[in-house]
Amino acid sequence: MNPSIAEIFTNKSVLITGGIGFIGSSLARRLVGMGAMVTVLDSMVPEYGGNKFNLVGMEQFLRINISDMRDPYSISFLVDGQDYLFNLAGQTSHMESMSDPLTDLHINVTSQVSLLEACRRLNSNIRIVFLSTRQIYGLSRYLPVDELHPEDPVDVNGINKLASEKYHILYSKMYNMQCSILRLTNTYGPRMRIKDARQMFLGYWLRQLLEDKPFQVWGGEQYRDFTFVEDVVDAILLCASATSANGCVFNLGGPEVMTLKELADQLIAVNRGGFYNIVSFPENRKKIDIGDFYCNFNKIRNTLGWHPQTTILEGLERTLEYYRENMRYYI
Ligand SMILES: NC(=O)c1ccc[n+]([C@@H]2O[C@H](COP(=O)([O-])OP(=O)(O)OC[C@H]3O[C@@H](n4cnc5c(N)ncnc54)[C@H](O)[C@@H]3O)[C@@H](O)[C@H]2O)c1
Repeated sequence: MNPSIAEIFTNKSVLITGGIGFIGSSLARRLVGMGAMVTVLDSMVPEYGGNKFNLVGMEQFLRINISDMRDPYSISFLVDGQDYLFNLAGQTSHMESMSDPLTDLHINVTSQVSLLEACRRLNSNIRIVFLSTRQIYGLSRYLPVDELHPEDPVDVNGINKLASEKYHILYSKMYNMQCSILRLTNTYGPRMRIKDARQMFLGYWLRQLLEDKPFQVWGGEQYRDFTFVEDVVDAILLCASATSANGCVFNLGGPEVMTLKELADQLIAVNRGGFYNIVSFPENRKKIDIGDFYCNFNKIRNTLGWHPQTTILEGLERTLEYYRENMRYYI
């Protein structure tokens, strides 16, 4: 990444919501390395992606605030005086959004509006980057999916993330606030949740592989793209540092498109061993599955110069290496 980007964040106050989770902690580590004054906010709900090991060794270089996005007093206190807000906290499980839609609504919409209101009242010059998801598009009508593709989510989480996007854009337009949105595709890498498949199936594949158990591939013929977490962090920082990103929505994407079966084969090749079984999609999952899906990320490439740098091979190697050393902290 361009070294001048690092200088932008030196001595700046930044707040990362969801900062003890997978992507948030990777971002926090990078920003601390750039000399930023980092505060992370996280509720540490055990079923979500927060894990205190994600920030191990960093404790003396940043401020950790264990509080809930649904608490407007805590949010108001924390946004005051910040230069940047990286808004990553969220309920991320698509299945859970179906079984408990109100919790998803409260975390992914109500608390997001309360956060934006706090910014508007107390700190309207703050620069905000919100992480959204490709799930807002629903089933692809053409591939690769660009930002002009219709938005037609197939689950509650997709609807709520879309609503939150719209609030961020509305606040940009109505109150001249500086908000940008990144729509992520499958993101993987060190510090992802591997305990179960709640965050992403690849994490659970990895755990089973390292425990010498066969993992299950559902279907296997679906095409997908995958972004390595450090490439996502690059995109977040680029977005925050460029005025041309204000009020914009960008897709991210991966360097390669492959079927799930091809991904499973690559994982086994990188691990030099392992097994998987192809099984048919469970009925309840099939209903909210988006089938073949990969993103066109030309808009962010042309506007900000971002493109994913890490090949799947390299990303899987780095991820496996991390969990070979640290798996005990994640299961
Ligand atoms: N990882 C992916 O593949 C992916 C794909 C698309 C979008 N995203 C989005 O990126 C963001 C970060 O995802 P992640 O993969 O790092 O997930 P994660 O679960 O690891 O991180 C989210 C963090 O938010 C925290 N959190 C949840 N509810 C909270 C609340 N009410 N108050 C305070 N903290 C709360 C959790 O404890 C967790 O640490 C999310 O908004 C997610 O929707 C991720």
